[in-house]
Amino acid sequence: MNDALAPMLELARRALGNAHAPYSRFRVGACVRAASGQLHAGCNVENASYPVGQCAEATAIGAMVAAGDRRIVEVVVLTEGPEPCPPCGRCRQQLAEFAGPDARVHLCGPEGVRVSTTLGALLPLAFGPESLR
Ligand code: THU
Repeated sequence: MNDALAPMLELARRALGNAHAPYSRFRVGACVRAASGQLHAGCNVENASYPVGQCAEATAIGAMVAAGDRRIVEVVVLTEGPEPCPPCGRCRQQLAEFAGPDARVHLCGPEGVRVSTTLGALLPLAFGPESLR
């Protein structure tokens, strides 16, 4: 466990507590660590028009970009259910915009880290800016 992981878990936990998930009742907190060292957290924000809802990772990424950071080196995704919650496909692509394949992704529960993996393992053969050439 690196020095940043405990604060990342704490920020994700706090964000999860603010999740707006009245429809799924599935609260998610996320925290991204930028290359600058700054931590940016987010929660899922659902909507009565269900497809409009936003994942916790997307909220964290938005907070990071708004704060001026652009490079993600580590990610925490925190849920309360019994199973680790892997980032959805859309979130993997959104993370890949700002993170390389070596970025660590930790799937966590209230007790701590359940699964640690990398973005490259979650999203092999990613579509990126070089794919547009
Ligand atoms: N959710 C996330 O916040 N992140 C994910 O990677 C998977 C799903 C949210 C979206 C929705 O508010 C709820 O979990 C149930 O799908």
